[in-house]
Amino acid sequence: MTCSVPPTPNSPRHSIEEMEDGTSQLPLEKSLQKLLDRRRANSTLRSLTINSSQQVDFSSNDFLSLSKSPALRAAILAEQATSNLPLGSGGSRLLDGNSRYAEDLEQDIAAFHRAPAGLLFNSGFDANAGFYACVPQPGDFIVYDEFIHASVHDGMRLSRAANRIPFCHNSVEDLQRVLEDCVHSSQTLREGRSHVLIAVEAVYSMDGDLAPLTAIVDIVEAVLPRGCGYVVVDEAHSTGVIGPNGRGLVCELGLEKRIFARLHTFGKALAGNGAIMLCSPLIRHYLINYARPLIYTTFMSYPALVAIRASYTLLMNGHTNSLAAHVRLLVDNLFRELRSVQLPAVTELLQVPSECPSSPIFSIQAAEPKSLARYLQEKGFMVRAVVPPTVPEGTSRVRVCLHAGNTIPETKALVVHMKKWATLQARGRGISCTMAERETEKARL
Ligand SMILES: Cc1ncc(COP(=O)(O)O)c(C=O)c1O
Repeated sequence: MTCSVPPTPNSPRHSIEEMEDGTSQLPLEKSLQKLLDRRRANSTLRSLTINSSQQVDFSSNDFLSLSKSPALRAAILAEQATSNLPLGSGGSRLLDGNSRYAEDLEQDIAAFHRAPAGLLFNSGFDANAGFYACVPQPGDFIVYDEFIHASVHDGMRLSRAANRIPFCHNSVEDLQRVLEDCVHSSQTLREGRSHVLIAVEAVYSMDGDLAPLTAIVDIVEAVLPRGCGYVVVDEAHSTGVIGPNGRGLVCELGLEKRIFARLHTFGKALAGNGAIMLCSPLIRHYLINYARPLIYTTFMSYPALVAIRASYTLLMNGHTNSLAAHVRLLVDNLFRELRSVQLPAVTELLQVPSECPSSPIFSIQAAEPKSLARYLQEKGFMVRAVVPPTVPEGTSRVRVCLHAGNTIPETKALVVHMKKWATLQARGRGISCTMAERETEKARL
């Protein structure tokens, strides 16, 4: 059936604008163009880029370099051959998309992470958005780290829990203050009739810093009445690289029984797609009934499930342990190289973390991150500038991710070029170096 409404003399057709290049712009497009122009003017316009395989990867989340691993390729092909599965998906998991293969996989992954149950989602974004939209109930609170991922924000927006309160990033003191405020303001909470979900990440993607998870759990249990606090941990960036055999931070700290739910994603260190929400069997059943991004979408295809099975096999049989150890070695090395820079002209322009990160992510705050990233890219190193709105104003940085496929000479060369960039910038800005400093710098380069 078609619905045709005849255009009136003042219909939008009449306000289509001819552009200089001969194309036309609809009124809505004109409004959207203004927003894009505003972003361009603020230097916050996003665009898609195509990666050059020639560059050394210091940018992707492929921390274990599994996407190029012959071992993973072989494991996928072997699994594909023995399982003899169809290629497509079949539909939503609620209809024809589910299978014994998917259910066995999610049980095995849950057991590996020492969780009672788990539910596979097409992506970590879907899992977070679906979980936060439906699990918190009216009258409940969601208390979240101010740097929590966008997918949690999207879920919260759809949630029926109206009380959503941020706490200062990784500050246990501020979390305590927020939780105490919740208790004071809510009789139902004091009476144990409402609940607080506390949303944190194991490793924060922009700074690579770890959540003080044990202290967070301790304070939640101390402040909230029994049964009222529910800590939910997003392990997107810790999966595969932290904890025994890459089980994540919760397992590393032995907190499995004190955490309400955990998200592990497969798109980063595991070189795949999709995610699992680890939880109790009851929460799993609830999500199957209420999480819309699970219900109203076609489930992952079998080859995607096969790839997940294969990467977990490499975690389970210990193959990835030496890869994760090499990444830690590189992180240490990069930190020492960067901290060894003594030149004030350089240290003024590059702010290196004061402590060695415990994850593969390094954040180097720079006066001109886009210029630094461009310079390093021209020298053959793929790093990216991260600027607002992705990070708060005043914290623009270059994000460097280390991978099992990187080498010590590559990290040393990266630092040499960072110093060269900073020295050039310092000269351009008239930041003076003493004669002795210049000599030391020359000797280093
Ligand atoms: C912390 C965090 N949570 C969730 C996600 C979403 O995961 P996925 O890429 O599987 O959608 C990401 C991805 O960027 C993330 O960084």
